[in-house]
Amino acid sequence: MDKKPIVLSGIRATGHLHLGNYYGALRNFVDMQNDYDCRYFIADYHSLTTQPDPSLLNGNVRSILAEYIAAGMDPEKCMVYVQSDVPETCEFFTLLNMHAYLGELEKTVAFKDKARKQPNNVNAGLLTYPVLMAADILQHKANFVPVGKDQLQHLEMARNFAVRFNHFYKTDFMVEPRAYEAKGEPIKIPGLDGSGKMGKSEGNCIYINDDDKTVIKKFKKAVTDMTPTEPNSEMNEPVKNLFYFLKLVSAPEVYDQFLASWNDCSIRYGDLKMQIAEDVLKVTRPIRERYEEIYADTEYLNKVRRMGAEKVREVVGKNVEEMRQIMGIKMF
Ligand code: TRP
Repeated sequence: MDKKPIVLSGIRATGHLHLGNYYGALRNFVDMQNDYDCRYFIADYHSLTTQPDPSLLNGNVRSILAEYIAAGMDPEKCMVYVQSDVPETCEFFTLLNMHAYLGELEKTVAFKDKARKQPNNVNAGLLTYPVLMAADILQHKANFVPVGKDQLQHLEMARNFAVRFNHFYKTDFMVEPRAYEAKGEPIKIPGLDGSGKMGKSEGNCIYINDDDKTVIKKFKKAVTDMTPTEPNSEMNEPVKNLFYFLKLVSAPEVYDQFLASWNDCSIRYGDLKMQIAEDVLKVTRPIRERYEEIYADTEYLNKVRRMGAEKVREVVGKNVEEMRQIMGIKMF
């Protein structure tokens, strides 16, 4: 059997799955499950660099794991694990640190950003964040990493560490990971506040776990404009955004009908918003219900964690052993 290329990705252990993630990263993860050897983990160590609150962290890891599984990430098809359940990562990280330079770490955009945002907690973990992330990736000998734009610099650093290591030890042990570009047009979920993008920091998210009332309320509050007075007029940004939603979640006939009502100026934004809200709920409601079941099932969640960690530790353990040997850490 042909070996499938290895895909590795980490999921931030803060925040909840929103429509932007759902149609972006998550859709990607799920699409890849069949064609690649996928390994996905919740990056709880990384969260400690900014949010060292024990009960919050544990709860976040739990809800994110449950959300991703509810939304289609399949622990039977891929290795789903929690970063800290694989202690091999720490050893890989320690070894890799010897080839990461202070100068390059200090220059990282994300580091400078965090140092500005939390001046009283510029901890070493923040500085070595990219090394830990590189360890996450390189320990798997991953071929592809699906990452957002904000993580490209970190991925580039992982590539640099890999090349540097191979060069230094005259080996081909490290595999250079590449960014995975999803096929097809990326779906960019707009914000409902008229802004370009739905995002946690923008504070304009519709969460997969929002109940019906909340979703409807959020759509009701969506920014629109005056109703058009001229037939076939140009849409402003917020209205365009609503039509983008409509196209994504509603039936083509429904879309055509609303577009016609825009063009002949008979559109009622209230109806448009309710239509989208209801069709969004058709997508999110079943996921929310599954999520609630999974979240409550401690036994199942722990089983997933144990199964994931076991599979990962087996493959990664071999790689760490090889790295030790290369670096001269071995029995006499
Ligand atoms: N830094 C990533 C983020 O904030 C999460 C992450 C940690 C990650 N380790 C990784 C992503 C390894 C891809 C590969 O989103």
